Amino acid sequence: MSSSLHSLAVTASKKAHAPYSRFNVGVAIKTGDGRIYSGCNIENASYPEGWCAETTAIGHMVMDGGGTITEMAVFCSRMDKITPCGGCRQRISEFGNSDTVIHLCDANGILESVTLGELLPRAFDF
Ligand code: THU
Repeated sequence: MSSSLHSLAVTASKKAHAPYSRFNVGVAIKTGDGRIYSGCNIENASYPEGWCAETTAIGHMVMDGGGTITEMAVFCSRMDKITPCGGCRQRISEFGNSDTVIHLCDANGILESVTLGELLPRAFDF
């Protein structure tokens, strides 16, 4: 259910290592066969070496055998309705499609749901 993706994203955000931006981001992704993975962002004192919560969650999915992302929730402690960055849109595209649903959240729940096709039109793929 989408509400459990929301609560898993909130829980994941509490594990964020984000001492520089203080943007504690959590993501929960769901695969076509019903598996769910979560992730947080992990920053680094050498700023460009940090990575996003989406990347952590996708890494967990890949290590567990891969899959297709059908749905995901994104939550940030400091920004309602945070959307995945450009690089993560491309990463989601690698394992999803234009119909992949991305739930934009606040602490209380899902505020808006958009598709990857809306966030990343004419995605690069081959
Ligand atoms: N961040 C994410 O983890 N996911 C997003 O969807 C947007 C941004 C992180 C990266 C960085 O650690 C912090 O938020 C501020 O940009």
